[in-house]
Amino acid sequence: MSDREQAPRGDDPGAAFAGARLHIVTGKGGTGKTTAATALALALASRGGRVLLVEVEGRQGVAALLGSAPLPYEEREMLTAPGGGSVRVLAADPESALLEYLELFYGLRRAGQALTRTGAVDFATGIAPGLRDVLLTGKATEAVRRRAGGRGRSSTPAPGAPFRYDAVVMDAPPTGRIGRFLNVGSEVAGLARVGPVRDHADRVTEVLRSAWTRVHFVTLLEEMPAQETRDGIDELRGLGLRPGAVLVNLATPARLDAATVTSAATGDLDTAPIAAGLKAAGLRPELLEAHEELAADLAAEVRAHAVRQLLEERVRRDLAELGAPIVELPWMEGGVDLDALGALARSLIDQGVER
Ligand SMILES: Nc1ncnc2c1ncn2[C@@H]1O[C@H](COP(=O)(O)OP(=O)(O)OP(=O)(O)O)[C@@H](O)[C@H]1O
Ligand SMILES: [Mg+2]
Repeated sequence: MSDREQAPRGDDPGAAFAGARLHIVTGKGGTGKTTAATALALALASRGGRVLLVEVEGRQGVAALLGSAPLPYEEREMLTAPGGGSVRVLAADPESALLEYLELFYGLRRAGQALTRTGAVDFATGIAPGLRDVLLTGKATEAVRRRAGGRGRSSTPAPGAPFRYDAVVMDAPPTGRIGRFLNVGSEVAGLARVGPVRDHADRVTEVLRSAWTRVHFVTLLEEMPAQETRDGIDELRGLGLRPGAVLVNLATPARLDAATVTSAATGDLDTAPIAAGLKAAGLRPELLEAHEELAADLAAEVRAHAVRQLLEERVRRDLAELGAPIVELPWMEGGVDLDALGALARSLIDQGVER
């Protein structure tokens, strides 16, 4: 099958998720990547099964979101989905990944710890930033390939054994860095032509380029994050990776109809009906005296809202042209707690997101 045949259709959100086992969530900084990745992990676990949520920047964003203490470098069960599935979280960071790698391939754990003390880990990742990235993407792709009954190189599960995880979701670096982060092969090419680093990079690349992997973009209905989404999708397509869905975060329903939004945005809103409405609503006498002033203030607010709604509609139309399915994450008025995460997950499922 060619890439084009496997590309999800713009009008079918489910297609951006169907068949995928590694969901990489990127987007402009602060748009809701960690929130979206966690809600997606919950949604994917909702039919039972196991989902691993991997955070790669060592920032403990998932722990902060879940209100837990900082998480260790291990796969820890953190959430139970309504359908009985579970979400484990791996809070990965480049230094732990490097130490683990040295131990696994060279038996160098002790040396690794000495390296940490002398700052040589920073040195190693400094001269070879690609190494740092491939170790992190390697954590996620190893979990995708892992079969029940075996773990990495340490034991060999029976061929055809079920996968240990039904899906892996990665809370990934922002759009500005995602291309480099995922372009593992060429990043380590100058570093290692043969040997374990090369083999490792090849195995990672194989999973990232396969139909198992989709890269989802979180955006807001604003110019900058939408532009980063466009650039990011172009970049990934150029690298032979598959964009998945565009996740529009903080989505709010349009409150004004087409005619009102246009007249309000251009400042033609008639304040008389607002003033009459305020009067009819039976305002307290002292407010009633100022009802015309109040009506003008409200009209200004409606105008600001209308301008915003028009902008959102334009950004949404532009995003639709990218050809990637659009999925919405509603704005949670009280902030994002466990209940809100559950609601976000349900919303994703309602829009066709599932394994
Ligand atoms: N749907 C939502 N409704 C309400 N608040 C939200 C929603 N999504 C995200 N937020 C809030 O927006 C803020 C940023 O979200 P989040 O941490 O998920 O973004 P991020 O892209 O991971 O940020 P960073 O780039 O710093 O990692 C948080 O305070 C979060 O609670
Ligand atoms: Mg984050």
